[in-house]
Amino acid sequence: MVMSGIICRKLNPKDDLNILAKIDLECVLHNDVDYMCPEVISENNAKLTNKIKNNTVNIKQTNIKKMLDSIIVAEINDKIIGYSITQTPDLSERQVPNADYELVRIAVLPEYQSKGVATALWNAVIAEMKQQNKSVLQLAVDIAGPEDNNGVRGKGNEKAIKFYKGKGCTFLNNTSQYKSKTGIPQSKICVQGWMIKDINEK
Ligand SMILES: CC(C)(COP(=O)(O)OP(=O)(O)OC[C@H]1O[C@@H](n2cnc3c(N)ncnc32)[C@H](O)[C@@H]1OP(=O)(O)O)[C@@H](O)C(=O)NCCC(=O)NCCS
Repeated sequence: MVMSGIICRKLNPKDDLNILAKIDLECVLHNDVDYMCPEVISENNAKLTNKIKNNTVNIKQTNIKKMLDSIIVAEINDKIIGYSITQTPDLSERQVPNADYELVRIAVLPEYQSKGVATALWNAVIAEMKQQNKSVLQLAVDIAGPEDNNGVRGKGNEKAIKFYKGKGCTFLNNTSQYKSKTGIPQSKICVQGWMIKDINEK
């Protein structure tokens, strides 16, 4: 189904900020994603499902309010269905010396995936980069999930890798590890690879 009427805009302080947590949790539950955005959520998801249902999730409201300018939301019929977070990486966070922008997060409610919503967000991020005279985007994506009881690593985030490759991103040689917050009962180590996109290169 081709989805028309997707609108991308900056997050507004009057928006229901809990929606970002809901999108993250839905992605964890449906997409094999081992990641809840730490900028958005201050607890792991052991208790989160009920809290989200009851609208009592401890979302980092003040954090988000400080980040309004770096969060773009996608909406359809006034309903927020996806979001992206970007930042300017400081020197210590740069995976390549010339990276001047980072896509920290992009996520779409599972029922709205594969309908061009993330593409709309991606285009909005690139437009924002052009407006700010930025040219080199870096991003991290899971290339291997946590180990199972036999020490075998789960697969990476294949859907996201395919999406980023489709947008012209290429892998760098470096990888890094992070602790999954969603590996109940204990946190588990995931491996992420870094990708790069020079928006001036065709
Ligand atoms: C990765 C992710 C963001 C992609 O979002 P999405 O909205 O499904 O992406 P799009 O619909 O724009 O593109 C996905 C596919 O739909 C296709 N598509 C694009 N526009 C389309 C349209 N108008 N109609 C139908 N299909 C379309 C694309 O060709 C693409 O196909 P491909 O994957 O076979 O190349 C989404 O799967 C997601 O939220 N995953 C969970 C969170 C996550 O992993 N985030 C990334 C790591 S932080």
